[in-house]
Amino acid sequence: MNKLQPIKVTVNGTVYERSVEPRLLLSDFIRHDLGLSGTHVGCEHGLCGACTILFDGESVRSCLIFAVQANGHEILTVESLGTPENMHPLQQAFTEKHALQCGFCTPGFLMSLVPFLEQHPDPTDEEIREAIDGNLCRCTGYQNMIGAVSLAAKKMAARQEELER
Ligand code: FES
Ligand code: FES
Repeated sequence: MNKLQPIKVTVNGTVYERSVEPRLLLSDFIRHDLGLSGTHVGCEHGLCGACTILFDGESVRSCLIFAVQANGHEILTVESLGTPENMHPLQQAFTEKHALQCGFCTPGFLMSLVPFLEQHPDPTDEEIREAIDGNLCRCTGYQNMIGAVSLAAKKMAARQEELER
């Protein structure tokens, strides 16, 4: 049996201190130890993007990282984005544009797109296609997602204007 390793990690603004096996994947730590089941697990080898989270602000695949590697780092999962009453503009746009079908892949898409939209406030369709080409949707609902990301960019710009007024 592997010796447990103590880790301290900030997830969605809350600091968690836990002891974990060195072989535990970060995706499993998030889902099972922390109970944050919004991060989905598909392929478990870095291909599908369903497990995407933000790690110190960068989109990463949590199935390719061990939980011990998150020691001292900041993580954001899809649960950090919004609530049903107060959705992130990207979540609103996905809803309005019917950009989710079974929804299994959706958290991964959202967590890939949040930093993309911060860096590309007015993205072209081509840039959006590139941004999501590492995430797989088995329902092949990509066209609606492209419309949703454009709409989200407009919503975020409007929100920014409002804040600056
Ligand atoms: S579950 Fe991590 S990339 Fe597929
Ligand atoms: S919405 Fe079904 S896999 Fe993406």
